[in-house]
Amino acid sequence: MKPVKVGICGLGTVGSGTFNVLTRNAHEISRRVGCDIVIEQIGARRDNPNCDTTTTNITRDIFEVAVNPEVDIVVELIGGYEVALKLVLLAIENGKHVVTANKALIAVHGNEIFAAAKKHNVVVAFESAVAGGIPIIKALREGLAANKINGLAGIINGTGNFILSEMQEKGRDFSDVLTEAQALGYAEADPTFDVEGIDAAHKLTIMAAIAYGVPLQFDKAYTEGISNITAEDVKFASELGYRIKHLGIARRTEQGIELRVHPTMIPKQKLLANVNGVMNAVLVDADAVGQTLHYGAGAGDEATASAVIADILDIARTIDVDPSSKVAPLGFQSEQLSDLPILAMDQTETGYYLRLKAAEKPGVLADVTKILGDCGINIEAIVQKESDQDFVPVILLTQRVIEQKMNQAISEIEALDSILGAVTRIRVEHL
Ligand code: HSE
Repeated sequence: MKPVKVGICGLGTVGSGTFNVLTRNAHEISRRVGCDIVIEQIGARRDNPNCDTTTTNITRDIFEVAVNPEVDIVVELIGGYEVALKLVLLAIENGKHVVTANKALIAVHGNEIFAAAKKHNVVVAFESAVAGGIPIIKALREGLAANKINGLAGIINGTGNFILSEMQEKGRDFSDVLTEAQALGYAEADPTFDVEGIDAAHKLTIMAAIAYGVPLQFDKAYTEGISNITAEDVKFASELGYRIKHLGIARRTEQGIELRVHPTMIPKQKLLANVNGVMNAVLVDADAVGQTLHYGAGAGDEATASAVIADILDIARTIDVDPSSKVAPLGFQSEQLSDLPILAMDQTETGYYLRLKAAEKPGVLADVTKILGDCGINIEAIVQKESDQDFVPVILLTQRVIEQKMNQAISEIEALDSILGAVTRIRVEHL
């Protein structure tokens, strides 16, 4: 079989990792695929001292790669929305297959990109866009294809998990840990994407589309970050037997699909609760196989390169196969996508941890529990913490309830004179 030629656009963390692994493992890769994978050209604004590209054709114009007649597969590793979209569409129009690690691009523009790819009979692959080196796209799309997926819950942002783990284990400060994650190359160019859950919502949107066979709908994902999580909540959660994790959750209900990213308390003994540092994990609950857990490095140069290269190899293996025989981008035939709605956040259902500051006087807890009872909310546990202040912390755990009811209860509780300030809420899942 003749060599398959790739053009790599972007030589940052993932680009250099891809270059190095493709070069280092060239022989092993060729034994697997049955042909050589050749790096035909690199498009990058600057060189990267982490890889020796002296014998490779480098252009400063990434668009040159997209129109290079020698290139079979364009690997988009520049990130961001606009330039990446232009590059990918140009590559597709020029008959190139595309591999991208760009979750923002796929989550926001994926429907348009897949339609263009179908029109031009090329493949767009994006394994590395979700959970770095974990082959979760392949697992959801192919390995679990026999199943009806009930739900999935994932730790899908390494930076956020690194921060929460350090806060939990070492009592470190939020901002101090974030600076370290940036220095280690885990964080996005704009780290608010990590800590505010936007990066996780991109990845969740992609996984949900594949799990349920629905179009990508990033604008309907609920996103809440971890920047308001306090050391106090981490400690109280721990005392109650829980860990706080930043989860992306998709759940099929009779009414539609829940699609939400938020800090979540999960029981300490669950495997997901013990996924720490920059590691990612996705728990999938499916009707035939039951639960499967997919764990691994969610970020980093060579871990992400592992997924980028797996896509290159998949394309290379089937480069001469009729496009209609290939796996569809979302695993479902494009004309068979479902219109199952994404539910508004106030229609989703979870348990809750509530922390409030209550006046140290008789009847206050009775008022609070009456409000919860009137809203149909079942209390599982209630703990009053010691304090030498006039207002004492009170922690409540509730059973699962529709968020709309909890919103109403919280606004009534906050209106009580005997409650100081806002009520802190953290959603609870038992997985
Ligand atoms: N910023 C991302 C993370 C990188 O921290 O997980 C991988 O997508």
